[in-house]
Amino acid sequence: MDLQPSVSDNQQPIPVVPQKLQFISFPIFTKREATYALCFLSFLIITITFFNTTSRFQHPQSLLGIGFLSPVLPETQKPLPPPLSSSGGGVCDYSNGKWVWDETYALRYYSEDCPFLDPGFRCQQSGRRDLDYRKWRWQPHGCDLPRFNASDLLNRSRNSRIVFAGDSIGRNQWESLLCMLAQGVSNKSTIYEENGNPITKHRGFLSMRFQEYNLTVEYYRLPFLVILDRPPKNASKEVRGAIRVDVLHWYSSKWVGADVLVFNAGHWWNHDKTIHMGLYFQEGGTVNMRMDVMEAFRRSLQTLKLWSIQNLDPGKSHIFFRSYAPVHYRNGTWNEGGSCDTNTAPETDYTKMEAEPPNNLFISDVVKLMERANRKAQFLNISYLSEFRNDGHPSSHREPGTPPDAPQDCSHWCLPGVPDTWNELLYAQLLSKGFRARAK
Ligand SMILES: *[C@@H]1O[C@H](CO)[C@@H](O)[C@H](O)[C@H]1NC(C)=O
Ligand SMILES: *[C@@H]1O[C@H](CO)[C@@H](O)[C@H](O)[C@H]1NC(C)=O
Ligand SMILES: *[C@@H]1O[C@H](CO)[C@@H](O)[C@H](O)[C@H]1NC(C)=O
Ligand SMILES: *[C@@H]1O[C@H](CO)[C@@H](O)[C@H](O)[C@H]1NC(C)=O
Ligand SMILES: *[C@@H]1O[C@H](CO)[C@@H](O)[C@H](O)[C@H]1NC(C)=O
Ligand SMILES: *[C@@H]1O[C@H](CO)[C@@H](O)[C@H](O)[C@H]1NC(C)=O
Ligand SMILES: *[C@@H]1O[C@H](CO)[C@@H](O)[C@H](O)[C@H]1NC(C)=O
Repeated sequence: MDLQPSVSDNQQPIPVVPQKLQFISFPIFTKREATYALCFLSFLIITITFFNTTSRFQHPQSLLGIGFLSPVLPETQKPLPPPLSSSGGGVCDYSNGKWVWDETYALRYYSEDCPFLDPGFRCQQSGRRDLDYRKWRWQPHGCDLPRFNASDLLNRSRNSRIVFAGDSIGRNQWESLLCMLAQGVSNKSTIYEENGNPITKHRGFLSMRFQEYNLTVEYYRLPFLVILDRPPKNASKEVRGAIRVDVLHWYSSKWVGADVLVFNAGHWWNHDKTIHMGLYFQEGGTVNMRMDVMEAFRRSLQTLKLWSIQNLDPGKSHIFFRSYAPVHYRNGTWNEGGSCDTNTAPETDYTKMEAEPPNNLFISDVVKLMERANRKAQFLNISYLSEFRNDGHPSSHREPGTPPDAPQDCSHWCLPGVPDTWNELLYAQLLSKGFRARAK
């Protein structure tokens, strides 16, 4: 399956649930499991038939997460409509556009020497020789992205908090923003982790303080956003962990009062990383053995929505939910020798598109519901632009010390790189909402 957890996430302990869980061997198929498998299968077949005969999912395999962004499809899809103007408010739709060659783009922001990058994202230092991947700029149709201005964003963010919560792709984007913002600070020693922790993928929570601005930019590692817990006592034996779709992780208590929140989730919400590993979905005191992963994802988003409405200041907090970040494994999945190391330029055939991953429809729906509840919520739609950047991943240039036969990383992104563009969109969308325009 292509909707896979990221490579290095896979080597990290899953929070809360005992370490053992990760190494569960393939469970023996009981009668009961076979029944559930059958139910699940028939559900899938029905769903696929339904979507296939109805609407927007032109490629049924995308529903299974197999097809999305995997090898280019033979049939062509309708090209996107010309410049969209989202919600008729005269605001440009930055998600739709094309990549243009721009030699100067590589000089625009930071370099791999930025102290806040973890080694897994420093592709050149890990031996990547082709450098063209840094010379492509995203050009939206019908408008320009405002140039990211570190001093301006720092100035607007004085006495505030920016929070990222999600999986390791969220950390990828967080590190990019740290480096982009750090350009506006002359003395880099005034930027530090509040608890003195090093930036590594092993930390669950990191908070970088920009001292001169009394700004913190925080990261919370939460693959599911909701709680991953031990199973309740009366759960059946095959339940090895419970993803409690109606309870947000306790980290959420720390997000109260934040000015900007950037959520992401998706790479762990697939059958392989959940039910297949014995992680079932719980609501109230009961594990619901029949709930499938997409329904569980949808419910977890409802939980996040409810929490946001109850706990965040509607006049202050800007809530973003980032869309699914595509992975680009070819000739195999992430754990079956899949690779992306032969890609040195973006995909240029824009007809070679695949359908929207179902995650995104749930995310954009929940964002709309938050907006309807008068929250400053925005959908950060980066799936389409990132889909073309099969050249942007570390591939075999993973952090030093990675064994040569380790899987390639075609889910995270080299930095500087594609997540910088996600943050350009984040900045643009903040500006479009007048983010702290008069803040001192
Ligand atoms: C995300 O953006 C792409 C490109 O503009 C668009 O085709 C897609 O429909 C958007 N997704 C959602 C869920 O709005
Ligand atoms: C920062 O904001 C102050 C006033 O709020 C303004 O005078 C100053 O020009 C701003 N500086 C930058 C670099 O934006
Ligand atoms: C950044 O914004 C400030 C004002 O907020 C302006 O003085 C400065 O020229 C801008 N820098 C760039 C590179 O646009
Ligand atoms: C720093 O910012 C926080 C909000 O994030 C605020 O509560 C606090 O008063 C600020 N401290 C100073 C010294 O302004
Ligand atoms: C930079 O900041 C650090 C930490 O606040 C301080 O100790 C140091 O003196 C500063 N350096 C300069 C050149 O201002
Ligand atoms: C398990 O216990 C909870 C209360 O702790 C109860 O609500 C639930 O119905 C029980 N589930 C089963 C399958 O017995
Ligand atoms: C995938 O495998 C085919 C046949 O084995 C080979 O021709 C092709 O170059 C491979 N593609 C990549 C991206 O490695």
